[in-house]
Amino acid sequence: TLLDELSNLENLFTVDAATLKKVTDHFVSELAAGLEKEGGNIPMNPTWVMAFPDGDEQGTFLALDMGGTNLRVCEITLTEEKGEFDIIQSKYRMPEELKTGTADELWEYIADCLQQFIEFHHEEEEVLNLPLGFTFSYPATQHYIDHGILQRWTKGFDISGVEGEDVVPQFQAALEARNLPIKLVALINDTTGTLIASAYTDQAMRVGCIFGTGCNAAYMEDCGSIPKLKHLNLPDDCPMAINCEYGAFDNEHKVLPITKYDTIIDEESPRPGQQAFEKMIAGLYLGEIFRLVLVDLHENKNLLFEGQDISKLKKPYTIDASFLALIEEDPFENLQETHDLFEKDLNINPSKPELELCRRLAELIGTRAARLSACGVAAICKKKNIETCHVGADGSVFTKYPHFKARGAQALREILDWPKGKKDPVVILSAEDGSGVGAAVIAALTLKRIKVGN
Ligand code: BG6
Ligand code: GLC
Repeated sequence: TLLDELSNLENLFTVDAATLKKVTDHFVSELAAGLEKEGGNIPMNPTWVMAFPDGDEQGTFLALDMGGTNLRVCEITLTEEKGEFDIIQSKYRMPEELKTGTADELWEYIADCLQQFIEFHHEEEEVLNLPLGFTFSYPATQHYIDHGILQRWTKGFDISGVEGEDVVPQFQAALEARNLPIKLVALINDTTGTLIASAYTDQAMRVGCIFGTGCNAAYMEDCGSIPKLKHLNLPDDCPMAINCEYGAFDNEHKVLPITKYDTIIDEESPRPGQQAFEKMIAGLYLGEIFRLVLVDLHENKNLLFEGQDISKLKKPYTIDASFLALIEEDPFENLQETHDLFEKDLNINPSKPELELCRRLAELIGTRAARLSACGVAAICKKKNIETCHVGADGSVFTKYPHFKARGAQALREILDWPKGKKDPVVILSAEDGSGVGAAVIAALTLKRIKVGN
């Protein structure tokens, strides 16, 4: 019956405190393994961002932000007031077909957006030559700050001709073909941008996180704790921001409570075997997990939507995280809004018990995501022996998904054995749209470093 099924689902998707702790402990060891040598599960990529800002950074910069869903172009002026800035920005949607197209199509689209932005905001005769910080939110190997070899696409991207290549010359060739007066000074990850932007205004910030289409974090490490950089003889106490790329945590499935639905997501993705953690918690996958459960209950158990045409529901990725968010937010006792959503988007007319199952399922999937997300943050704090700090977070799941923040905070308390009611030692705060400012601040820090010659 539906009730039995509901209790199965509860068991499948509930992550208790003991599991959270086990996941966190394994996470700490994978973070350390990634710093040890190349090729660990979690890449722990050095970013060559080697200082926190002091708030005195100044100048005008362009920031280009290629995330999972949007492309943003910003022009940011870091003003004389400590930690303050002016920003103008335009958002462009990343067309879906670009994500599985060719490298040329990608760079041309990006260069077009930059050109539009510049033409709109500047007179033709102005001499620009603005420094650009490019937020490229995929795993990249960097030996300097102004280049980066794409390790692999994540978040469902599958663009040919970029993996294993340095993305900067490809991008710059598209700019040169348009005679755009822009100089790339820094290639950064969105987590690094979020970390630095947060630290620009709040000195207690120690970690930058993204909970969005993908999930990941960056934090500041000491070079002495990065054995894989030993050969460079950098001073032990020299700071180095690390882009963890921890969406790849536990690709071997040693501790994550994987369900058969997670296995299907992985197998059907363009990169099976990769991003195990991300595929359980990030926004790109939440709706798909939900959809796979519903299809299973209909097709294999004859329990849901009996006699109805579920052809729309059978289309992969037809449901996104905002669908689950709306269900969780449905204010009506009879779940009227959820009913309308199913009717409008999926042509399905669910009964009251079916609606109730869907609501509970959305809660279970959303809660599992928030609770597991907390393990990554807790692991960084444990690894660094940080007892109290602020964590800056951005991404559509963090900013828009109902209860995500409270559920994540509750999980952190359980992992850290912290009593409710006592002031939280680790607090995750919103750093919305921070990575653009982060890119500008990092570009400023980079130019400062070049000027003093180190
Ligand atoms: C944006 C940041 O606000 O959030 C991007 O500017 C980041 O740098 C993005 O990649 C992540 O969120 P989502 O939900 O778009 O993946
Ligand atoms: C994916 C990317 C990573 C990014 C994260 C959040 O995990 O690999 O670089 O930070 O998504 O956007």
